[in-house]
Amino acid sequence: MTDLLTIRRPDDWHLHLRDGAMLAAVLPETARHFARAIVMPNLVPPVVTGAEAAAYRDRILAALPEGMGFTPLMTLYLTEETDPDDVAQAAKAGLVTAVKLYPAGATTNSASGVRDFDKVRPVLERMAEIGLPLCVHGEVTASEVDIFDREAVFIDKVLDPIRRATPGLRVVMEHITTSNGVNYVKSGGPDIAGTITTHHLIINRNAILVGGIHPHYYCLPVAKREEHRLALRRAATSGDPSFFLGTDSAPHLTRLKEHTCGCAGIFSATNTMSCLAEVFDQDAALDHLEAFASLNGPAFYRLPPNVARLTLSRGDPVAYPATIETPDGPVTVFDPGFPLHWRVDA
Ligand code: NCD
Ligand code: ZN
Repeated sequence: MTDLLTIRRPDDWHLHLRDGAMLAAVLPETARHFARAIVMPNLVPPVVTGAEAAAYRDRILAALPEGMGFTPLMTLYLTEETDPDDVAQAAKAGLVTAVKLYPAGATTNSASGVRDFDKVRPVLERMAEIGLPLCVHGEVTASEVDIFDREAVFIDKVLDPIRRATPGLRVVMEHITTSNGVNYVKSGGPDIAGTITTHHLIINRNAILVGGIHPHYYCLPVAKREEHRLALRRAATSGDPSFFLGTDSAPHLTRLKEHTCGCAGIFSATNTMSCLAEVFDQDAALDHLEAFASLNGPAFYRLPPNVARLTLSRGDPVAYPATIETPDGPVTVFDPGFPLHWRVDA
């Protein structure tokens, strides 16, 4: 039995850091364990231009506590007005690592997202030319499509047509939640990868709905049936280079989740590495944790893996805070529902 595991320092390929007081409160939770993260641009207003991404990156670095090393990898929020030249310049300057596609209305702060996909064609073509990845929130928003089917329908109706029309476009299908997503990524060749969150490896939709309504398990894309969770587990723990970690750690104040119209988002930055080690241990796949958390992501993004290492050790259940405090109130930390035995060594 392995009780000590040393891996390359992990990266988070999908993270919400927010801004202001919330940014200051949650950033150390990620920077403690992760070297880099793809930072989501869904602020209010969203991060749309290269100049806005540069300003946001500077605010993140200013909020980083003394002595913590962390590199934010910035993204641009794709709108129907996005200028291909601005995107190309920001990419060339090393300012942005990806562009994020939100279908309008799909999730938190996505009102400025894309309605007419033909309008973003020139940007997508330029991105294909320069090899800049497109991160995709893969859900349709049509009211007649059941919320549990929105990912599968998006693949057929939106994502596959976009990819066929834009050869060479590099796509990360983010936070996949279904076996449809797993299969699409697996069979999609070298230009597509999928990120998987920590929580979608652990919960299915029963966690949200059985025995009362549990708002802290509500996120988008919403967790699906058990068979889908098992497909995600197999994909993540297999070591397949097409799949890597994007926690989608998405802080909302506890009181706004426990609300008549509760916000979507699960905050898992605090205990993600302990959760993942437990999951990979349960599936006898600890030897693939490094691929999932630290190697496959940099390989897809054509970045070097981190040189620094992270060591985890197994022992008595790990104590972690139930909430993170902010000046506006607490944020609830993801509860996996089972004890965590792997702690990240200081
Ligand atoms: C995210 C957020 O709160 O910004 N929420 C979520 O449920 N994941 C947005 C997103 O990534 O969809
Ligand atoms: Zn997200």
